[in-house]
Amino acid sequence: MASATFIFLLIVLSISLTSLIGESATQTKKAASSKDKLILPGSSLSPMISTHKSSWPSPSGNFEFGFYEEQHGFAIGIWLVGADERTVVWTANRDDPPVNSNAELVFTTSSGKLLLRSGKGEEKRVIANTTSSASSASMLDSGNFVLRNSTSDIIWESFNHPTDTILQGQVLPTLGQLFSSVSDTNHSTGRYHLWMQADGNLVLYPANTEDSSEDAYWATNTWPPKDNLNLYLNSTGLLSLVETTNTSELLDYSYLNDESSLSKDKVVNGTVIYRATVNADGNFKLYSHLVNKKKKDPQDVFEVWSALRNPCEVKGRCGLNSYCTLNDVQPNCVCLPGTEYADPDRWSLGCLRNYSKIECESDGKEKVKFYKIIKTETINWEATPYVELQMSTEENCSNSCLEDCNCEAAMFELNDIHDGIDNYNRYVCRKQKLPLSYVKRDFDSRKTAFFKVRKGSENTGSTEKRSKDDATDKKVLIQIIVLALCSIVLSCVALVISGFYFAKIRVLRYKKLRDDGILGNTTHQEEVTLRVFSYNELKRATNGFKEELGKGSFGAVYKGSLNKGKKLVAVKRLEKLGEEGEREFRAEMRAIGRTNHKNLVRLFGYCAEGSRRVLVYEYMSNGSLADLLFKNAMGIGWEERVRIAVDVARGILYLHEECKVPIIHCDIKPQNILMDEVWSAKISDFGLAKLLMPDQTRTFTVIRGTRGYMAPEWHKNTPISVKADVYSYGIVLLEIVCCRRNFDANVSDADEIVLSSWVCKCFAARELKKLVNGEEVDNKTLENVVKVALWCIQDEPALRPSMKSVVLMLEGITDVAIPPCPTST
Ligand SMILES: *[C@@H]1O[C@H](CO)[C@@H](O)[C@H](O)[C@H]1NC(C)=O
Ligand SMILES: *[C@@H]1O[C@H](CO)[C@@H](O)[C@H](O)[C@H]1NC(C)=O
Ligand SMILES: *[C@@H]1O[C@H](CO)[C@@H](O)[C@H](O)[C@H]1NC(C)=O
Ligand SMILES: *[C@@H]1O[C@H](CO)[C@@H](O)[C@H](O)[C@H]1NC(C)=O
Ligand SMILES: *[C@@H]1O[C@H](CO)[C@@H](O)[C@H](O)[C@H]1NC(C)=O
Ligand SMILES: *[C@@H]1O[C@H](CO)[C@@H](O)[C@H](O)[C@H]1NC(C)=O
Ligand SMILES: *[C@@H]1O[C@H](CO)[C@@H](O)[C@H](O)[C@H]1NC(C)=O
Ligand SMILES: *[C@@H]1O[C@H](CO)[C@@H](O)[C@H](O)[C@H]1NC(C)=O
Repeated sequence: MASATFIFLLIVLSISLTSLIGESATQTKKAASSKDKLILPGSSLSPMISTHKSSWPSPSGNFEFGFYEEQHGFAIGIWLVGADERTVVWTANRDDPPVNSNAELVFTTSSGKLLLRSGKGEEKRVIANTTSSASSASMLDSGNFVLRNSTSDIIWESFNHPTDTILQGQVLPTLGQLFSSVSDTNHSTGRYHLWMQADGNLVLYPANTEDSSEDAYWATNTWPPKDNLNLYLNSTGLLSLVETTNTSELLDYSYLNDESSLSKDKVVNGTVIYRATVNADGNFKLYSHLVNKKKKDPQDVFEVWSALRNPCEVKGRCGLNSYCTLNDVQPNCVCLPGTEYADPDRWSLGCLRNYSKIECESDGKEKVKFYKIIKTETINWEATPYVELQMSTEENCSNSCLEDCNCEAAMFELNDIHDGIDNYNRYVCRKQKLPLSYVKRDFDSRKTAFFKVRKGSENTGSTEKRSKDDATDKKVLIQIIVLALCSIVLSCVALVISGFYFAKIRVLRYKKLRDDGILGNTTHQEEVTLRVFSYNELKRATNGFKEELGKGSFGAVYKGSLNKGKKLVAVKRLEKLGEEGEREFRAEMRAIGRTNHKNLVRLFGYCAEGSRRVLVYEYMSNGSLADLLFKNAMGIGWEERVRIAVDVARGILYLHEECKVPIIHCDIKPQNILMDEVWSAKISDFGLAKLLMPDQTRTFTVIRGTRGYMAPEWHKNTPISVKADVYSYGIVLLEIVCCRRNFDANVSDADEIVLSSWVCKCFAARELKKLVNGEEVDNKTLENVVKVALWCIQDEPALRPSMKSVVLMLEGITDVAIPPCPTST
């Protein structure tokens, strides 16, 4: 029955189509191309797929217009069709509530309008606001949904009413705006917008602000100002500011992304569709979707370009009195000292002071004994102070705030003064009332921030200023976790563990490095896209591959420098590569390039010329964890080692669970864990195993990895999963605990040669102190870490915990059960 109706509809449609084409043969130029599927008045859609069509596809099938599920109901929109998920690129009346399954979309014959009836007897909503009546509609292959009048002129198009996305071929005209969605599942107007301003500047602002320059968090900084610029995404994925989109006149343009970021490979079995979206998190990104001809295959989605590298640069992400830190895979909002989350589930609401003020003394001075000042060197804000005083020392500024009834925060900083004759600088104390907006973390050594708090009420928010008061810290932590912030707030714990002392050293080191100009200003602004280098360029950069830093399983690594020596890089020449072609190599590089985590070594770019394959990584100045553990005579402290262990676990967790396609490292070992200038541990060489062994899901026939760190399944010809990395991590964890290699023949007792079995014996005999050789350590943490490690090295992969549980256990969030001894040890 249904199919009969369908065939009937099809016949009617094709008849009307041919007649229409016949009628308007004289207007072929304007007419819809015969490939478009014309939708005629009388057509309707309904979310009830069993009785009705729920969408109108484009001829290629890549886009559909119609009902999609949104928040337990349905909305009308346009989406990119994917095998497993759809990407909504436009939503009609996005701020209207979703409709239920009784709704119907009608293209009326009488008025030629698209009307949405949300239920029987309900009011009809206009979907496309046209002045004259439409005679046909089409979902075009470009992703544009258009309505045409009887002379086939377009009278309405979705491209003229963008929501958060522009597609290739689409223009965001002067004064046009894109508003982010609330979330990936709620496409209502969200918290950020991109504005193509009349002055030619393309700017990102938080929504509901004055859109002043203080609110802007990203801009093209078009200079000199230029009228009537448009943002244009051309069909090959170039985002540019153009005066006109008449392609034969493309003279004045400036590109946002460059061509090297785009795939130049011929796409054989599909097409590439580009889209640029203001994401719910406020970043503006360009994506490419590789749409396979066979719609069944999952789509490859690549992030081609991104306006901001650091999600914490988005202003307004954290509300008043709070600031953003990138401690884990996700950004995190931290309250200023003396404040607490207004609502721990909604960071955008910010933090509120959690103590009531005590009345001032009659002379306007604060009753000093009730307050104290908390000092931090890593917080900055831009608000205008109520008073700015010249002062010579930090203490003067701190005391001045403490005694001043109005002062709730103060910034002591070195200001550059240009008085027309001379340049000099002087210290000022800028006193401030709360609330503070757009507070950010900042490692500027020339600034020190002070916060006034009630005695006995300092907040744990400031990660830099943790005291060693573990007991209270833990309490607060548990509260926060109960408040459903677990995965994100966890990250602070590493800092808690490493404690005040180390934080201080890090900050100092960082400051020193900044002062030395090594980090420069480039830390945040770097392009996300990978650079393609020529071989000669890299030869020059490395002075002819002169200074070898080390040799890994994939080839030698050389020290190099770019930007006239300003930026140090590590250049890895790959050897022993498989037969993979250039296309696969580039795809793999893009996958690696898309990873972005503070515990992964960053790939800057690569070179693929002929059979040459070279990778360019960020330079890690402090060597590998292996050097640190096994060669360093001084040894590193226990707390420091635990922090490194957590760092590494987080990096692996990101590879396993946060990447679009899980990456199995296959060779986790201390030699592949590198230390950067501030002694953060970062994992290197990830993603490379895949180049040598393209299909990771199948059984490996050739063994990858390093003896000693390899999971037993490598020898059993069973499939390799992420759990193989968990095993290697377990071994590394034991090495971190004991500061010795897994296999060491130079030990006094034969029992101790294989570390894992020795640890097991000590654990069974409750003699864990032996493992750390009398070092002063926290017994509970030691036991915890050893238990986690023993779970990780279980023979049966299913018994090993996921990296997520590993992180939770190491941070003390979840309890660790007593592990059995692995049988093979
Ligand atoms: C979507 O987000 C908006 C804005 O936050 C909210 O008002 C609306 O209720 C949300 N929609 C649903 C269905 O939850
Ligand atoms: C439709 O557009 C006209 C002007 O083009 C505007 O005045 C009117 O408010 C719009 N109606 C709706 C429902 O958006
Ligand atoms: C169709 O629209 C075009 C452009 O808006 C207009 O010039 C033309 O007169 C319209 N045709 C009819 C029959 O209304
Ligand atoms: C997109 O713009 C670039 C730069 O102008 C140009 O090389 C490329 O051909 C354009 N693509 C198309 C399809 O016009
Ligand atoms: C585009 O520019 C060319 C050259 O200036 C001109 O001949 C053509 O008519 C223009 N096309 C449109 C659609 O404006
Ligand atoms: C294209 O599809 C064919 C048949 O499905 C397949 O054999 C071929 O490998 C594909 N080519 C590419 C480059 O993916
Ligand atoms: C600054 O502090 C010093 C002591 O630290 C004190 O002697 C001096 O008077 C203070 N100056 C001002 C302007 O408060
Ligand atoms: C303010 O918050 C801190 C830490 O969250 C807490 O220790 C203190 O008791 C709170 N003070 C008040 C007055 O609630």
